[in-house]
Amino acid sequence: MTQLTAPDLFEPGLFEGTGFYDVFAWYRANDPVSWQRPAGDPDGFWSVTRYHDVVSVHRDSTRMSSAKGMRLGSADHAVGAVANKMLIVADPPDHTRMKRVLIQPFSNEVLSRAEEYVEEVVAGVVATAVRHPGPDLIEQLERIPTDVICAIMGLPRADWEWIGRKTTEAFESPSEVQRITANGEIFKYFSDLVRENRRTGTNAFISGLTARNSGGTRVTDEELVFNLSGILAGGNETTRFTLAALTLQLAQHPDQWDRVLRGDVEPAVATEEALRWSVPGMHVLRTATEALRIGDVEVEPGQRVVTWIGSANRDPEVFDDPDTFDVGRSGNRHLSFGAGRHMCLGSRLARLEITAYLRTLRVRVRSMTLEGEPRYNGSNFTWGLNRLPVVLHA
Ligand code: HEM
Repeated sequence: MTQLTAPDLFEPGLFEGTGFYDVFAWYRANDPVSWQRPAGDPDGFWSVTRYHDVVSVHRDSTRMSSAKGMRLGSADHAVGAVANKMLIVADPPDHTRMKRVLIQPFSNEVLSRAEEYVEEVVAGVVATAVRHPGPDLIEQLERIPTDVICAIMGLPRADWEWIGRKTTEAFESPSEVQRITANGEIFKYFSDLVRENRRTGTNAFISGLTARNSGGTRVTDEELVFNLSGILAGGNETTRFTLAALTLQLAQHPDQWDRVLRGDVEPAVATEEALRWSVPGMHVLRTATEALRIGDVEVEPGQRVVTWIGSANRDPEVFDDPDTFDVGRSGNRHLSFGAGRHMCLGSRLARLEITAYLRTLRVRVRSMTLEGEPRYNGSNFTWGLNRLPVVLHA
């Protein structure tokens, strides 16, 4: 029976499981662009749940600003300090200028050179996980995005473990003080690195980005520091969540794993379903700069708009049988990387890592078993598993 009153999208604990998908389904069907004012939010915002409305918000970069923040719950002063200096909270023209520079190392052409290294990292992680299964596979999987991004950025190997830990603290720590401290430490790390590289020129990744400054498009050292932190943050947690969600699905659905193992489904195709299913970026926020319409709703200038990517990815208008994990799903136009001008800078790299993982599993793993209760982190922003007791068997 359809629930008549609107369910609470902000009920504590909702994102500690997957029950929020039923809540999204209710809103898509009954109130697709709803006004929400959760406790502690004096201003309220529009909440967008249907696929096509989500796409229209993301594509409307002239009237939908990111510079006032791109997620719920961020502190105004923290956003103000980096607004228009960090891609994810920048609007044109600063966004256009910075992205032109920062996207270069993540193009297909440059990344194809990293492919072999990605395969090597993934093979090492999977081999260790098979040989020494631990209580939580995430502790092993998290090395994939961390080692890959640290290597691409040319960071000293001795720092990788620290970097991985700090990024997790900056996002996952329950203490706001610890999150702010970790972010500050990461900024300081990159600030020292950029300054040092001005002197020595030994970091090819940073030198490449600063060299482009002389080519016309300029990114200041301060912007570089903020964006290096942004790239690190963007790449670590998210990809780990997708790898973990994919593994859980394959462990819970041996028939799906069989399709991968037998070669009936290409790893690149299964990668897209892993991305649709996992939604590591659950929502995105924009602020309207002009009056506009979303569906039947009039949005006023200055009002905030939240798009739920998790809801868009399960919209039955776009995806057949959306609540089924189908490794071979075709025409998979998920929005896990967003859309429009802020579309994920690292989408190619993330795809490379996930596809390499699937290829490696196919060669080195026969079966996988779930040995306990998986646990979700409870966040409605960077949502995903933070405990995955899965064992991989050779
Ligand atoms: C499964 C993996 C990933 C997911 C699901 C993901 C998701 C997203 C989403 C939804 C956005 C758009 C945010 C918005 O519209 O405001 C975004 C932007 C971004 N991502 Fe990712 N991301 C992933 C991996 C990565 C990786 C590997 C990197 C780094 C190499 C990265 C770096 C960034 C950056 C820098 C932006 C800002 C781009 C801009 O504002 O123009 N992400 N990502």
